[in-house]
Amino acid sequence: MMTGNIGGAGLRGQSAGETKLCTVGQSGSGLTYCGYDVADLAENSTFEEVAYLLFNGELPTQSQLDSYKVELFALRDIPGSLKSVLKLIPADAHPMDVMRTGCSFLGNLEPEQDFSHQRHAANRLLATFPAIMCYWYRYSHQGVEIDCQTDEPSLGGHFLKLLNGKTASEQHQRVMDVSLILYAEHEFNASTFVARVCASTLSDMFSCITGAIGTLRGPLHGGANEATMDMISKFTSPEDAKTKMARMLERKEKIMGFGHAVYRTSDPRNVVIKAWSKKLAEENGDTSLYDISVACEEFMWASKKLFCNADFFHASTYNYLGIPTKLFTPIFVCSRLTGWATHVMEQRDNNRIIRPSADYTGKNPRIVTEISERVEMQL
Ligand SMILES: CC(C)(COP(=O)(O)OP(=O)(O)OC[C@H]1O[C@@H](n2cnc3c(N)ncnc32)[C@H](O)[C@@H]1OP(=O)(O)O)[C@@H](O)C(=O)NCCC(=O)NCCS
Repeated sequence: MMTGNIGGAGLRGQSAGETKLCTVGQSGSGLTYCGYDVADLAENSTFEEVAYLLFNGELPTQSQLDSYKVELFALRDIPGSLKSVLKLIPADAHPMDVMRTGCSFLGNLEPEQDFSHQRHAANRLLATFPAIMCYWYRYSHQGVEIDCQTDEPSLGGHFLKLLNGKTASEQHQRVMDVSLILYAEHEFNASTFVARVCASTLSDMFSCITGAIGTLRGPLHGGANEATMDMISKFTSPEDAKTKMARMLERKEKIMGFGHAVYRTSDPRNVVIKAWSKKLAEENGDTSLYDISVACEEFMWASKKLFCNADFFHASTYNYLGIPTKLFTPIFVCSRLTGWATHVMEQRDNNRIIRPSADYTGKNPRIVTEISERVEMQL
């Protein structure tokens, strides 16, 4: 029989449905998308290939990839009224709120008419998210109204050009691509589960994705990469990092970028992004942020047996790419949209409304007394 603390235990370890998309921490293979190891994909494919893989179940041939990229390229620009809405959002807004509003507003302009349009809705969001983020950011922070179409062939390169106004180096485009691959899909994590619950009511794609963005926003989920950056930027040296982290642990504070709800000894995405962080540090000529990050990793493992999750070395990596910290989690959105949308489609393929029950821990049954007879209770 189920016990009363299931909700308090965060439903850990319980299966909440089936998926063909992804394994997390199962039988030796750390993380796979449609049967492919994430490290293999990060080494040998591009983000557009991974998006195609998730949406279709198979990697594309060259001609399939070419047509898919042409399709996405044509969907990149955002409507004028969406630009007007983005211009109204203040500079001090949380960028995840901007993404949530951008997604929701696009759903007003171009609603998913019926489920036969689900693929188009997903591709439209995939193609426009970089512009939604950068249009707001550059307008509110720099007073610049950017052209949302670039000639960059990849979405990663497109994002970096929208952000910086110039074509990024090949290495930086590749790092962006790898990062988008690593964040693309992760089974029944909190935001994906929200997307599936919403889909199970037969709601539309934009509502499912809007709910998922709101869920990813929290620092225990996607917000950890930003929180990590805030933390490591306060450490002045590897020694300082260890001293300050020891104090944080004494105060029982959570250290962002460490630990995982499913993985027990390592996160397979960490080794990949850590290697890129190192390369970028060397390219930069100043490795201090990388060195501090490595010291944090060593300290946490030695003192708590806690390991870096995907977010930890993403912080230094994005910092070396010159990306403002507040945009870290929105980049996660640009990537995870692929996983969310595919889960929505998978849920719709074999749907029954998701409606678990709860173990009741409240008052025994009672009757409503006349208001004049009620005694004031200590609340
Ligand atoms: C990811 C996370 C939410 C998983 O939570 P969880 O499944 O409850 O974690 P666990 O069951 O493995 O926790 C085991 C113990 O380690 C502690 N712990 C886990 N992650 C920790 C961290 N980052 N810093 C300090 N202590 C941590 C927990 O508090 C718990 O201690 P307790 O038994 O004394 O309560 C959690 O590790 C966390 O908050 N990490 C920081 C946020 C983060 O990086 N999120 C991104 C995830 S990809």
